[in-house]
Amino acid sequence: MTKKILVLTGGGDCPGLNAVIRGIAKRARKENTTLPKEEQWEVYGSIEAFNGVLREPQEIVKLTSKKTAGIHIKGGTILKTTNKANPIKYPVPQPDGSIKFEDRSAELVKKLKDLHFDAIINIGGDGSQKISKALFDQGIPIIGVPKTIDNDLAATDVTFGFQTAVQIATDSFDKLVTTAESHHRCMIMEVMGRDAGWIAVHTAIAGGAEICLIPEIPYDIKKLVKRIALRYKNGRGFCNIVIAEGAKPKDGTVVSQKGESGSEHVRLGGVAYQLAAQLKAAGCTAEIRETVLGHTQRGGTPVAFDRVLASLYGVKAFELVLNKKFGHMVALRNNQITEVSLSEATQGSRSVQKNDYIIQAAKGLGITFGD
Ligand code: F6P
Repeated sequence: MTKKILVLTGGGDCPGLNAVIRGIAKRARKENTTLPKEEQWEVYGSIEAFNGVLREPQEIVKLTSKKTAGIHIKGGTILKTTNKANPIKYPVPQPDGSIKFEDRSAELVKKLKDLHFDAIINIGGDGSQKISKALFDQGIPIIGVPKTIDNDLAATDVTFGFQTAVQIATDSFDKLVTTAESHHRCMIMEVMGRDAGWIAVHTAIAGGAEICLIPEIPYDIKKLVKRIALRYKNGRGFCNIVIAEGAKPKDGTVVSQKGESGSEHVRLGGVAYQLAAQLKAAGCTAEIRETVLGHTQRGGTPVAFDRVLASLYGVKAFELVLNKKFGHMVALRNNQITEVSLSEATQGSRSVQKNDYIIQAAKGLGITFGD
């Protein structure tokens, strides 16, 4: 009997997803060169996360070499994705326009079994890996692959997509520096990251920011006003700030809006404008402009590091399937590609710690966090 793998991408997209898909498909084809035809692996993809299986008609495509050739350099995901198809909390629109969340996991498990998949590879962030764990607990042979530009997964040192996001943010920062200098302006650049400040801190160091504001260190607006004034008085007469979308002032709240119907999360974004208003109100006299980078950080071609990491994750995920190490997620730890149990992988997130060396080093470089 041939053996079948189902691959899917869930949650927000991220540069490198296609490199994982290609890695899995190529490694499976390589394995097939050692196997008689009737024992070979076939790799399939479910379109739009588990929707491809749950929907009628189902949308499951065979990942032939033609479909996966050269896709590692492309952003996005050829399998499409959604963050509104959690089988355990599936959003079902009601006649009155409201949304009710239903547990469709038993139905999904039955469908996956009826389709005779020997393994599922779920590429996704923390939410997706919680789904992997729940399905594994219900008897589905599943492997997780971590992804997110936020780099906030506890079980892996780095996620692919992060370096690309930092590169995009740094390129934008560099552009803002030259125009800030010409106009003696104070530029505020807002980056993504949800509740983690990793993108912001890395960009602030790479770009050479004066101020970096992150969710983990609530800021004191008065200290920022002082720092900006000093920069104008003793420094180069302009100022560049990086702020993470989840940053908040001391005793303040994050800037968010309700997610679309069916989404489990609030939407962050717009804190740059709040900061500009707060600075003005606190007496900052500099001319301020705001830039919200938004989804540019998640788009386009992955940088080489992310292509490599994602490709290694893809190969490793297939090898975990070969070795029947289900219930695990691939990970990078201490520079080694390895695996961790889904129980461990779903145990919490990794945020920036105040005493992390990167914060101390950033302070050493003169970057103010407003604490
Ligand atoms: O988790 C990745 C991420 O890009 C966050 O940094 C951001 O807050 C969120 O997703 C945006 O989600 P959406 O694409 O649903 O607006």
